[in-house]
Amino acid sequence: MSKIVIAIDGYSSCGKSTTAKAVAARLGYAYIDTGAMYRSVSLFFSQNHVTLTNTKEVLAALDHIHITFHYNPKTCRNETYLNGLNVEDEIRKMYISNMVSEVSVIPEVRRAMVAQQQKMGRKRGVVMDGRDIGTKVFPDAEVKIFMTADTLIRAQRRQQELLAKGELVNLDDIIQNLEKRDRIDSTRAESPLRRAEDALLLDTSNMNLEDQIQWVVDRVGEQVEAIK
Ligand code: C5P
Repeated sequence: MSKIVIAIDGYSSCGKSTTAKAVAARLGYAYIDTGAMYRSVSLFFSQNHVTLTNTKEVLAALDHIHITFHYNPKTCRNETYLNGLNVEDEIRKMYISNMVSEVSVIPEVRRAMVAQQQKMGRKRGVVMDGRDIGTKVFPDAEVKIFMTADTLIRAQRRQQELLAKGELVNLDDIIQNLEKRDRIDSTRAESPLRRAEDALLLDTSNMNLEDQIQWVVDRVGEQVEAIK
């Protein structure tokens, strides 16, 4: 059986990347965190004071952005590099979360990222997570999952993640950030966040991580059997 594309989309902080990463590891697939790419663009724009409404500046900046992922055996995870520098921790901070959806709305940014993502997945054998993977990046993905979860539960999980990295953030601020990002992501003109018609729905509100991973692995197994 040749390798397939697994597209995992959904709302912020539903456990998409943790699930996608684990599924990729079990299947021996590559994992691509497309949110990390939009976060890296946001970091670059922030560092270089790019005016988001100035298309010329945005296009010039995009020409200087090179994003790659490299496995770190010490942390056992794929980490994000922006122009050769490890930005994995920086891009997860709240100031980036607070600007990333506004950056992701910009059509020129989306076109550049989507083109790179399609290139990264062209050989298939990838698990890609984001907001528009099943609708825009790989509409022909063999498996599409759309993840959702209760907002309070998502915020609590996010707070724990940030705390584990030493960043103490008020729960209300996290809820506001998640709701704002979901709203901007769902209402933008270019490839808004929405469930693809053929995506399977996964509500992780009452599931632990192991159950989420197993659920996706089972669906992948069924799909692979079906198209054999
Ligand atoms: O997945 P993560 O929460 O890290 O994504 C950060 C932000 O990047 C999202 O809130 C969204 O604005 C943007 N994003 C996007 N399209 C994707 C992945 C992420 O617009 N495919």
